[in-house]
Amino acid sequence: MIESIRASAAALQAHLPQQPAVGIVLGSGLGELAEQLEQPVAVPYGEVPGFAQSTAPGHAGRFVAGRLAGKPVLCMQGRLHFYEGHPMQAIAFPIRVMKELGVRTLILTNAAGGVNTSFSVGDLMVIEDHINFMGQNPLTGPNDEAVGPRFCDMTFAYTPALRQLAFQVAARQGVTLQKGVYLGYMGPSYETPAEIRAFRALGADAVGMSTVPEVIAASHCGLDVLAVSLITNMAAGIEKKKLSGEEVIEIANRRAQVLQGLISGVIAAL
Ligand code: HPA
Repeated sequence: MIESIRASAAALQAHLPQQPAVGIVLGSGLGELAEQLEQPVAVPYGEVPGFAQSTAPGHAGRFVAGRLAGKPVLCMQGRLHFYEGHPMQAIAFPIRVMKELGVRTLILTNAAGGVNTSFSVGDLMVIEDHINFMGQNPLTGPNDEAVGPRFCDMTFAYTPALRQLAFQVAARQGVTLQKGVYLGYMGPSYETPAEIRAFRALGADAVGMSTVPEVIAASHCGLDVLAVSLITNMAAGIEKKKLSGEEVIEIANRRAQVLQGLISGVIAAL
């Protein structure tokens, strides 16, 4: 496994002006952050050997390297989702390649439905922990000890110091931050109201269709992780209306700047 990771990393590195320190995964409708990098270099996933293509709406499907808040970063402008039919291992792969390229801190964003009824549409939530309800784990199959251990501890998967830093930066910026548990759902159908009631009883504060496999892969290969959800809608059944993918993208676009400011602030303070 490490050989294919190294081969992809070498191919991608050939395009990069410098070694990235921070990896950023941009969620649905949140890809605009990549447009703010200084000295940007874009590499479509299709040009990196070993990479799957992103087909999801609101996901450009390319790496953008550059500088943000004075630090070299590598953005995934668009991510891979399990619901697109990608195997979990394909979703883990770019995370492992980023580690191989020198990334030590991974910042993930996503659009999510609010399960906690005290949340409002447009809120940002720092993920403290997750519940893997996707039915699969990217670490199944043979394990390569050169990548990470067979049994991967998840106790501190969402790095406590980075969560604390996010709250400090948000306070300085006057941004209200929620915190909570993200439940990863396979999708692509949205949840039913009964599922949302069940997930709330299980301790979920937000629900979405990404992030969990990437965070498991990041923990496995030893990356520090900060993950922030943008609550683009209240989850099914909370408000008596249908959910729509267009609304998710619209709210994400509308709140993207605040999330971008938070991420830049965190990176500046690293
Ligand atoms: N459910 C699952 N994924 C989502 C949602 C939701 O309500 N909103 C944005 N992504």
